[in-house]
Amino acid sequence: MTAQHIDLERADLLAPEAVADPYPLLAALREHDPVHWSPRYRSWFITRYDDVVAALRDERFSSDRITPYRRAKLEGPDADPGVRAAFEVLEGWMVFKDQPDHKRLRRLLGRAFTPRAVTQMTAAVEEIAAELLDDVVRRGHGSVDLIGDFAYPLTASVIADMLGVPREDREQFKDWSDQITGLVFGGMGDATRHTVGARGMAELTSYLSGLVRDHERRPADDLISAMISARDDRDALSHDEVIATGVLLLFAGHETTTNLIGSGVLALLRHPAQRRLLHERPELVGGAVEEALRFDGPAKTVARVMGADVELRGRVLRRGERVFLSPSSANRDPEVFADPDTFDVTREKAGQLGFGIGAHYCLGAPLARLEASIAIPRAFARLPGLRLTDEPLQWHPVLLSRGMQRFPARFTLP
Ligand code: HEM
Repeated sequence: MTAQHIDLERADLLAPEAVADPYPLLAALREHDPVHWSPRYRSWFITRYDDVVAALRDERFSSDRITPYRRAKLEGPDADPGVRAAFEVLEGWMVFKDQPDHKRLRRLLGRAFTPRAVTQMTAAVEEIAAELLDDVVRRGHGSVDLIGDFAYPLTASVIADMLGVPREDREQFKDWSDQITGLVFGGMGDATRHTVGARGMAELTSYLSGLVRDHERRPADDLISAMISARDDRDALSHDEVIATGVLLLFAGHETTTNLIGSGVLALLRHPAQRRLLHERPELVGGAVEEALRFDGPAKTVARVMGADVELRGRVLRRGERVFLSPSSANRDPEVFADPDTFDVTREKAGQLGFGIGAHYCLGAPLARLEASIAIPRAFARLPGLRLTDEPLQWHPVLLSRGMQRFPARFTLP
């Protein structure tokens, strides 16, 4: 599919070819219809770099898209109380809040989730990555699912370690968080996603509630304790806020980073000269991670709901309408990045939008960068001759994020 051959009237980011490779469609939108109304999704899609930045900095593009949904769909007598309760937890997430509530939560969490707390994770990330890759090699058949065997357990273990979740509860933790994915990222054609997500949310919040009570009695050197004691002269996080934020961190902390590790390894496998360059000059790893975020990052779109009527490029976005702002598209905008479809780990230009920008700029960016900059080179070092298989890659069919369901690869056994 090329940009010229796309029928924009029927543009669908969830069509199978766009799920596999959204970039031709995003390029066509960026060029011909940068503020695009999609009748299918009853939403706007904004794809140019400057417009995405301006919207992410503009309070009229509201982050609170949960409250209107809950009021419209979950208040009636037929509404499922479990689903309503799950949405109430989501309503407590800072990423879904506008000012001043957002600023308050972010300020308090910033006291717990500090650069120092992230740097302290370096040795743990190295150790967990090494253990997982040892397991892969020990199995002795030269094949690996880089998502299921490596990126996913790595990022889930790191955030669980950081929060203070006991190792023996990790599997359980992962199942619940998988179930919540359907609530947060949405998807098409799965009618059960709300009820399954609500069940996962109920179990995870009840589990975390117990853990928070334990930590209230016996503080430890971890993020849950740091959140409990995070306070300033004005206030502190409530018990429920610590739980909701714990769910947010667990969730935000591993889904996206898993996808980044996957797409970073994939880009290097598809660009052998870049892989060789990184091998010869390991100090380029920081640049390689930034380029992976730009070239094929996990944030395909971020959602907003209009808090006021706004005119943009001659179109009027009405109050209450939904908007998808696309970092994936902005990151390939030729007005900003030279040769945007080229993967280049030495690229100088900063400003990729993979972590968003403005008030909601990703709080976990330093942790994600740390994990990816360890995981990607370790995978190549421990799995010699790493290569793709003939199996087609399956991508998650969702609008918000870009990531592989599985990432089958082969390597040469020692
Ligand atoms: C490669 C990995 C990651 C990517 C691509 C990513 C992307 C993003 C993006 C685009 C946003 C902004 C959302 C918006 O404007 O609506 C965001 C916010 C956020 N991210 Fe990340 N993220 C990643 C990893 C992490 C990690 C590891 C954590 C924590 C452990 C984390 C925690 C958060 C939080 C708490 C917010 C909300 C910030 C706020 O609302 O002020 N993220 N992330």
